[in-house]
Amino acid sequence: MDKIARIILEGVEYEFPVVVGTEGEKAIDISTLRSKTGHITLDPGFGNTGSCRSAITFTDGEKGILHYRGIPIELFESIPNFVRVGWFLIFGRMPDEESYSRFSYILTNKANIDEDMKNHFSGFPKSAPPMAVLSAMLSTLSCFYPEFNELDNREEFEQAAARLISKIRTLAAYTYRRSLGLPYIYPDPNLPYVSNFLHMMFSQPYQPYQADPIAIEALNLVLILHADHEQNCSTSTVRMVGSSKANLFASCAAGVNALWGSLHGGANVKVIEMLESIHANNLTPEQYVAQAKDKKNSIRLMGFGHRVYKNFDPRAKLLKRVSERFLKQMGIKDPLLDIALRLEEIALNDPYFIERNLYPNVDFYSGIILRAIGIPTNMFTVLFAIGRLPGWIAHWYEQNGDPDVRIARPRQVYIGTPRQS
Ligand code: ACO
Repeated sequence: MDKIARIILEGVEYEFPVVVGTEGEKAIDISTLRSKTGHITLDPGFGNTGSCRSAITFTDGEKGILHYRGIPIELFESIPNFVRVGWFLIFGRMPDEESYSRFSYILTNKANIDEDMKNHFSGFPKSAPPMAVLSAMLSTLSCFYPEFNELDNREEFEQAAARLISKIRTLAAYTYRRSLGLPYIYPDPNLPYVSNFLHMMFSQPYQPYQADPIAIEALNLVLILHADHEQNCSTSTVRMVGSSKANLFASCAAGVNALWGSLHGGANVKVIEMLESIHANNLTPEQYVAQAKDKKNSIRLMGFGHRVYKNFDPRAKLLKRVSERFLKQMGIKDPLLDIALRLEEIALNDPYFIERNLYPNVDFYSGIILRAIGIPTNMFTVLFAIGRLPGWIAHWYEQNGDPDVRIARPRQVYIGTPRQS
């Protein structure tokens, strides 16, 4: 028998259906609440609000579980191919060889940006924050490739998605080169996705950069672990913007801006800044943890805590292991890793963090790996955006094909001045 929730308001009882997801998650469908009762729900920060039905990613924050389309995240460690996983997230099945070749072919052949687009970079100051440049340049794609502003069928969508996934790398690398006044390096059609990105970042004219295979493997894995995380702040932003029928490029540009904040993707920068400052100021990890617990200041242990995970973030577990293995294989000794390990140990045994269920999140270890690869700190969140892009695209596509979707339009409880007569 279908479950029903009953709400009694002002002496009248109302019934609402209970929806159960494939992993047993339960939700009360209150979509008719206002029309039936005149009431709305109030849920700042949306901690209890399901905004959609989605078949892409499942998380169980209490158990520390993350699945992409039914596959536990841990299983992707053995096949670190970001493009394959991105296609899987978007289209819901692992690509067969024909689909993979077709998609890879577009990625390779559409990696360049229109030459006129390069002029836009010179309009930004060299000191421009890379996330600001990235979001502006993603929006600019709508001007240079307007044929993709309306997507009428799956083929057109796939063409647009592949261009976006390909070009974001080029735009990210050019953003970095511009900030240093270095010449732009064109994409190399002979290189796969991640190697090509590192080539555009670090090669010099006539002096190609040889990326370490261990670095390529690690970066593939970092990107995969960031590829989707259901209805987080940036993905919900992409969905919200897309719900007005804004195009794919504009919706993803909005996602970049949402990701930028220090409580979301920007935390990966803040983690490294925190570790660097502990190191530079000769603070002990114990002293820093004490500051993070002190409510008199606004200091937080960056890379700790998560709205959903009240247990270990499974991505952090994987990244911790990978960062230790990766640094060892590359022969890198990073004092920041030692500080991070000690901070984690202290916090996990401290009642303040235990009582509040605060565990390391994905940002706690990702920066250590990016640093070892040579990615500058101010580009960390850009790397997060490259990784998250397939997830944003998958959600945009899922929503766009859902006949029941309405424009996202929350309500409010007005607390301003009442009508003055
Ligand atoms: N350090 C110290 N205290 C913390 C931390 C932290 N990192 N995170 C939460 N707390 C405390 C809060 O002060 C609060 O304490 P109180 O109950 O005594 O007032 C309690 O834990 C609950 O915290 P909220 O901020 O209410 O939790 P919320 O779910 O709203 O926020 C968030 C989650 C934003 C991730 C938070 O834990 C945080 O700021 N962490 C640091 C930033 C960070 O790492 N962000 C990346 C998240 S992962 C991602 O977006 C990819």
